[in-house]
Amino acid sequence: MTTTVEATKPAAGKGGGLAGMVVADSRISFVDGAAGILEYRGYDIRVLAENSTFEEVAYLLWNDHLPTAEQLEEMRRQSRACRFMPPEIIAALRNMPRNADPMAVMRTATSMLAHYDPESEDNTPLAHTHKACRLMGQLSGVLAAYERIRRGEEPVKPRMDLDHAANFLWMLTGDEPDPQAAKALDQYLLLLAEHELNASTFTARVIASTGSDLHSAITGAMGALKGPAHGAAVQEAMEQFLEIGALDNTEAWFDSLAGSGRRVMGIGHRVYKVRDPRAEPLMKNVLKMVEATGERQWFDIAQRLEQLAMEDEYFKSRGLSANVDFYSAPLLYSIGIPVDAFTCMFAMSRIVGWTAHVYEQQANNRLIRPLSNWMGEHQLPWVPIEQRG
Ligand SMILES: CC(C)(COP(=O)(O)OP(=O)(O)OC[C@H]1O[C@@H](n2cnc3c(N)ncnc32)[C@H](O)[C@@H]1OP(=O)(O)O)[C@@H](O)C(=O)NCCC(=O)NCCS
Repeated sequence: MTTTVEATKPAAGKGGGLAGMVVADSRISFVDGAAGILEYRGYDIRVLAENSTFEEVAYLLWNDHLPTAEQLEEMRRQSRACRFMPPEIIAALRNMPRNADPMAVMRTATSMLAHYDPESEDNTPLAHTHKACRLMGQLSGVLAAYERIRRGEEPVKPRMDLDHAANFLWMLTGDEPDPQAAKALDQYLLLLAEHELNASTFTARVIASTGSDLHSAITGAMGALKGPAHGAAVQEAMEQFLEIGALDNTEAWFDSLAGSGRRVMGIGHRVYKVRDPRAEPLMKNVLKMVEATGERQWFDIAQRLEQLAMEDEYFKSRGLSANVDFYSAPLLYSIGIPVDAFTCMFAMSRIVGWTAHVYEQQANNRLIRPLSNWMGEHQLPWVPIEQRG
């Protein structure tokens, strides 16, 4: 990576948050926040959502080109072989508190997985390819196993005849996966797989830039994703829909926010100042699930809330629109994912983007080490402890 810092001082007031700064050259994904465009390796996300699958998109993101039929078959074969979970990890999951945050469990398990990965300290491109594949398979296994253990059930072994999304549903429920739910989940995973230099991906690249290993970079990325301004917004979006409870309550709930300082979760984005391009395909998938299940309450609340926000001057003037989490929430809920595990689903998808970025960083590395703007005093005189007060 060529690091090109285009600004050297944070914006006044809010500490800057690196807003608007370009800090890397990349060819993994492109975001145009004003036009609402997201491309993976040059392919529009809407085109990929219409035509592709999560496994094919993983190949694209990892290899910089779409696979041929043979390449995709080989990738599927390899990724299924990567579903093996070290028994020590299952044993550790059994010892985790049942009331732990699933995202904290997943973060811990990611770090532990390094101990059982024969190539954990090997940063060569070939080892990276193996580890990325293993992490993709293993993260879904960690989540499914922990969810079952905390419910008092036995983990279910992966199946080799199912694609990634369907196999996850199988491991989670132990039932034959519903094709509609598996398709909706596959689309969700595809749509969240990569998103340029978001906070967790940047974290992964910073760690990779020190020459550290992939598991460390992904463990750090998980920590960043866990925050409510990033990945955990999807859980909080669902909690807000549940709090609203019924379509008729939506307007009063929205009005009650005015002046409270409380945010609508799933609305607003650092880069997108128009509707997130992933919102539409996610919404379409929620609608398909609504048709399949007949349960439309959460979709209706979400749609009404979005409409209210889009008509509101406060939101309009700040360019606040629905982001990826807004319709991810009712989608994951309709598939039957526990709300407190929603952020883990995000991680299960984003592992592909994170690993692609770590690879890109390592391939052309320079330590990421920015500067801060000093706001304190200089050269203070030393005061002995007994004279302080
Ligand atoms: C995503 C997010 C953190 C982006 O933050 P940011 O670029 O740093 O923008 P700021 O937090 O500075 O917000 C800018 C303004 O919009 C307001 N705002 C931002 N998101 C808002 C929301 N969801 N609801 C209400 N007001 C919001 C802020 O209060 C601020 O108003 P001000 O200028 O009067 O102070 C922010 O929009 C947010 O918290 N959204 C809700 C959480 C969420 O969905 N996160 C997932 C992102 S994919």
